[in-house]
Amino acid sequence: MIVLRELCKNLATFAPTNTMETWCNYGVIRRSSVLRPPPEAMSGVVKTKYFDRIGDVVGRDANLAYMEFGVWEGSSLRHWVSANTNPQSRFIGFDSFLGLPQQWRRRPAGYFSVEGQTPDIDDPRVGYQIGWFNQTLCPWLAGEGGEILKGRTPVVHLDGDLFHSGLYVLTRLHTVLDRYHLLIDNYSGGEARSLHDYLTAYGASFEPRLARKRKGVSRVLGQVYGVVDTGRGADRGASVQVEAKAEAEPVGGHA
Ligand SMILES: C[S@@+](CC[C@H](N)C(=O)[O-])C[C@H]1O[C@@H](n2cnc3c(N)ncnc32)[C@H](O)[C@@H]1O
Repeated sequence: MIVLRELCKNLATFAPTNTMETWCNYGVIRRSSVLRPPPEAMSGVVKTKYFDRIGDVVGRDANLAYMEFGVWEGSSLRHWVSANTNPQSRFIGFDSFLGLPQQWRRRPAGYFSVEGQTPDIDDPRVGYQIGWFNQTLCPWLAGEGGEILKGRTPVVHLDGDLFHSGLYVLTRLHTVLDRYHLLIDNYSGGEARSLHDYLTAYGASFEPRLARKRKGVSRVLGQVYGVVDTGRGADRGASVQVEAKAEAEPVGGHA
């Protein structure tokens, strides 16, 4: 037993940190009591079909405050913009546009860089918050974001890949939102782990509704959609509702 423990310790020293992190995340997600599996998983369909199913649930003509964290070349943002018909909706893309702030799996820091260029989406409803999430989100929430969130249905799309990027976003949104639609793009790793840790630490809940998985990979969920209830609206009997009162916080490091 002691020999086995020592062997494991030594193996862990040599295994790449990000591989270990992925294994640990996967283990936590599989055993989680706060992350239940969604009742339905679409298999072998392109991502846009999955987005359209969610769009039908949220409402194609709903007045959305759609916030995407991790935009890159704008593929998913573009699709959400084109699928929503409400002229009052707002779509905000948060990204450094300089790529990942640190290594993620086999992708080095800077992967996904588009050298600061925002996607060219010709629609006045679209805006960008350029920079690291922990530099842009709070000032945005305290300013124009607070106005944008009033009276609109919040949809949050987490696609920054990294655990700490997701954790920052979820914990900051907790301070302003009661209930919101949440899409997690990478459900086998850091993003789902950030949801797990956020729900556990804050006592919030997540009702999973739909997943998408790759054909033939039966157990691994790719993307998951559901509704987060932060618990803040319980006293007011709120449904999907927001209250904007974020404070700007000091900036430091990447998230
Ligand atoms: C997988 S890509 C996004 C893909 C995109 N949603 C699509 O439709 O193709 C991840 C993006 O997250 C951004 N990102 C990750 N962490 C970030 C952070 N902490 N602050 C700002 N941007 C971040 C990267 O710059 C990258 O563009």
